[in-house]
Amino acid sequence: MVIILVGGQWGDEGKGKVIDYLAEKADMVIRSQGGNNAGHTVITEHGEFKFQLIPSGILYPHCRCIIGNGVVVDPIVLLKEISQLKERGIEPNNLIVSERAHMVMRYHPLFDQLEEEARGDDRLGTTWRGIGPAYADKIRRIGFRIGDLQKEGFMRKKLAFVVEQVKNPVLEKLYGKPAYDWESMLDEYLQYAKQLDPFIRDTFPIIQEALDQEKKILLEGAQATMLDLDFGTYPYVTSSNPTAGGALTGSGIPPTKVDLTIGVFKAYTSRVGYGPFPSELTNEIGDQIRERGHEFGTVTGRPRRIGWFDAAVARYAVKLNGVGVAALMRLDILDDQPMLQICAGYEFRGHRYDHPIANISHYKHCTPIYEEMAGWEEEIGKAKCWEDLPANCRDYIDRVGELIGAPIQLVGTGPRRDQFVTRGPQPFD
Ligand code: GDP
Ligand code: IMO
Ligand code: MG
Repeated sequence: MVIILVGGQWGDEGKGKVIDYLAEKADMVIRSQGGNNAGHTVITEHGEFKFQLIPSGILYPHCRCIIGNGVVVDPIVLLKEISQLKERGIEPNNLIVSERAHMVMRYHPLFDQLEEEARGDDRLGTTWRGIGPAYADKIRRIGFRIGDLQKEGFMRKKLAFVVEQVKNPVLEKLYGKPAYDWESMLDEYLQYAKQLDPFIRDTFPIIQEALDQEKKILLEGAQATMLDLDFGTYPYVTSSNPTAGGALTGSGIPPTKVDLTIGVFKAYTSRVGYGPFPSELTNEIGDQIRERGHEFGTVTGRPRRIGWFDAAVARYAVKLNGVGVAALMRLDILDDQPMLQICAGYEFRGHRYDHPIANISHYKHCTPIYEEMAGWEEEIGKAKCWEDLPANCRDYIDRVGELIGAPIQLVGTGPRRDQFVTRGPQPFD
């Protein structure tokens, strides 16, 4: 059985927690796009884990965790994540990295930062992790794949060319920065090669065998639908396809093998970085939610922008990804709100839209059409089942489910592993 899990808004919906919940029953978890711009939090009895590159199933030794071909891997960050896990007594023997995955090279974060600075007021608000420049080089066919680490002669020749002919001229002439010495860079990467060697494999036969044996496979989405390179608020997006299609090309799983797509949503909306956000709250309510929800980026520590739940965004995510089951997370953060608003659609120049407008200049200026609902004003963190939730809370969940067009079968009532309310049949059961 293959399940794709996608973020349904602008990221940080609580995907890590849902993946951890599903990974208990899964045989394999695969990351298929993005890189260490992602930050997925899992909280267990052993404390908090924040995964950037390593799949969030790694805490279950029975679960094979694959960093798929579509991910861009910064070897420095991956090695650090591996050693941090080891320090906490977790041996990542179940980790495999596709030899087809591209690398974020030493110069990519620098170019990310320099390009952002050059954009001035039009900057995107990237994570400065080099994700965009690494994907750009992949497409320009001057990227380095993880498997290249195992070919010293090839690395030597190509690194000399890319650094000398492509990167250094731009660094020196355009940005007035010192050039890179490709030879010392080569030495550095050969060190990473040694350390990463036990994890690097061709993942095609491994994933195909799991499919043949009808194993339970979970594709762990990073980022989210509204950050999708094609369907998000371009150019205020990431440089990969976090939608369901990207999960397939980024892993090598054929569409005919997919059984279910799960969409993960936050009970309100947050966004890090710039770009349109129609239901944004720039008032006291937004500040309250940010404080109560500790809404500061996992990767960069930046305050997240906060807004009401946008059902037009979520409905778009449901339709684009073919979401069959939805998870609504962080509902407890709304516990103390007396009134809640849900954005049901938008108005722009006399027209009503029930989905995000492709033209972002228009999207930026559209007016949200809100529905108001009474809050529940009590703590839900101890709820064990659907009936334990206050009536107003159940009404909110049901209305959200109706508006987005997908059944909400998982509800997050707190950060801990056990703070989940489920209803209906559960995926992988
Ligand atoms: P991801 O990127 O989608 O995996 O989400 P992040 O880990 O970046 O951010 C989600 C945050 O919410 C993390 O700090 C989680 O521990 C936390 N979290 C997840 N589900 C819930 C929930 O239902 N309630 C609360 N209060 N926190 C949650
Ligand atoms: P997870 O997987 C939230 C945002 C950045 C920026 C834009 C482009 O934890 O949900 P990039 O560095 O990717 O070129 O930045 O995308 N962004 C995320 N926002 N959660 C994420 O991942 C994100 N990954 C990238 O803030 O606006
Ligand atoms: Mg995150």
